[in-house]
Amino acid sequence: MSRLPDGWGDGTRSVRAGEAPPVPGTPLRPSPVFAAPFHLGDRPPRADGADAYARTEHPTSRAFETAVGELDGGRCLSFATGMAAITATVMALVSAGDRLVLPADGYYTTRLLARDELERLGIRVEYVPTTGIADAAARGDLDGARMVVLETPSNPQLDVCDVAAVARATRASGALLAVDNTTATPLGQRPLALGADLTVGADTKALTGHSDLLLGHVSTASDELYDRLKGWRDHTGATPGAFDAWLGHRSMSTLDLRLARQAETAAAVAEVLAAHPAVTGVRWPWRPEDPSYALATRQMLRPVGVVSAGLADEAAVSRFLAAARLWTAATSFGGVHSTVDRRAQWGGDAVPGGFLRFSCGIEDTADVVADLTAALDAV
Ligand SMILES: Cc1ncc(COP(=O)(O)O)c(C=O)c1O
Repeated sequence: MSRLPDGWGDGTRSVRAGEAPPVPGTPLRPSPVFAAPFHLGDRPPRADGADAYARTEHPTSRAFETAVGELDGGRCLSFATGMAAITATVMALVSAGDRLVLPADGYYTTRLLARDELERLGIRVEYVPTTGIADAAARGDLDGARMVVLETPSNPQLDVCDVAAVARATRASGALLAVDNTTATPLGQRPLALGADLTVGADTKALTGHSDLLLGHVSTASDELYDRLKGWRDHTGATPGAFDAWLGHRSMSTLDLRLARQAETAAAVAEVLAAHPAVTGVRWPWRPEDPSYALATRQMLRPVGVVSAGLADEAAVSRFLAAARLWTAATSFGGVHSTVDRRAQWGGDAVPGGFLRFSCGIEDTADVVADLTAALDAV
């Protein structure tokens, strides 16, 4: 599916994914097109692939989708947000009465979607912890499910599960396998190559990485699944705006550079956290001591820039944040700023008040680590 040569590295792929062959006189990088309707001629709308109406076909979102699809190894459809992409993945392909298996410890709003919308519509939702899904699949416990959704590494605990092992089971039982690949990004993990049917991204996070837009996507190598998802998106109107799709495409060019700096900082941050007496429960899948280490380093292509850990309680978190200058309190992750998210602040996830998710930005590693050390010492 991808037109990118196999030998190109991630830096080249980030910049060149989705590029059309050069045409003299056309822009090096496509500019955003803001039209909602397009000129129609005498022929039926969309004849010969002509654009007709932006909700259903649009050159700017198509450029973003071509690029992301090439990185994912499939055909990509963009959505207004990550949740719109997850909603489409489930609702376009799962029906009332079907069994849907979701991670018990994945992104909280996916579970809210299930509890408040999917169950209401008669979808039978079951929750399995990320670390238990591969065993459940091997035991045959997932047999009969219409779809299994994985989120690996999971947000916020950073547990990892074996995509290829679950894919073997879902292929055998006839279930669809969808992977929320948000934390890893298409450069960090390729769920389609590991056997998944669908890979989903909240591109609001590291893929676009500047904390200034909402965007999501789904990629699949199946034309049938692609068509079903496109029908869902066109009918429900979950398409992204042209400016966001353009900004997302533009931001992707630096994905390799940003991930590299974030990972370098995350490695240093994980060590500082692990060595500090005020901190417990450090999780970063690339620490050899981490329970996910063996699987993460085998399955994934590069480390993530997110680390989780715990301070004693909420008061300790407040002291940490008051002392930090670079570690800014904000939700989301994967952006150019180093941020800290207090999950307990949001309710929902059963995490202790001192639990923190550190999202390493692209500031100088030494500055961010010095700021972390000073703020921890103030705790
Ligand atoms: C793993 C994961 N999936 C999906 C989402 C939803 O993305 P969005 O906020 O763009 O709807 C998030 C957002 O935090 C996430 O962390």
